[in-house]
Amino acid sequence: MSQNKKQEGFVLWLTGLSGSGKSTLAEQLHEHLERLGKKVERLDGDILRGVFPNTGFSKEARDEHIRRVGFMASRLEHHGVIVIASFISPYRAARDFVRNLCGHFIEVYVKSSLDECQRRDVKGLYKKALAGEIKEFTGIDDPYEEPNQPEITVDTEHQTVEQSMTQIMDYLKPYLQD
Ligand code: ADX
Repeated sequence: MSQNKKQEGFVLWLTGLSGSGKSTLAEQLHEHLERLGKKVERLDGDILRGVFPNTGFSKEARDEHIRRVGFMASRLEHHGVIVIASFISPYRAARDFVRNLCGHFIEVYVKSSLDECQRRDVKGLYKKALAGEIKEFTGIDDPYEEPNQPEITVDTEHQTVEQSMTQIMDYLKPYLQD
């Protein structure tokens, strides 16, 4: 997409329920893009919450968290880095706020039904949320607002990881030309 040799950054923003497959895809995309020789940074909900341990899950806390990491993503992008961000980011307005900060914001809806995410329950958190041990859990007693017009939707309930990867990498082709 660029005329010169300098890498142009973009932000690939993965949003979806807990257990939908965001981190798995983000890890694989990171590896794949690095193998292509790209400068890539991964920003992930669980990792960033480890760095900022007092981030809560109220709407206000989540919005603030998304604005903060969204700002970081936009600065990295500005310096030519490809950013792979994976956050539940349940609120449309917060995602749109980040979209407006970024030059190229590619929203990827990592779609899986709540039933399927609960069935997988990779971290055992749905079980705890249903037992009332965790409050404000997305999909249980907290909302998830689906993207209205995401650039990409990957149906991780019915696709393999490889199929979702191919779908995303096909979309990214024009962004990856030197
Ligand atoms: S976001 O809503 O603010 O975007 P983020 O992606 O950073 O969320 O963090 C979500 C991760 O925090 C989940 O993958 C899960 O491991 C953990 N978590 C702990 N409590 C909650 C909760 N109440 N709701 C959602 N995720 C939770």
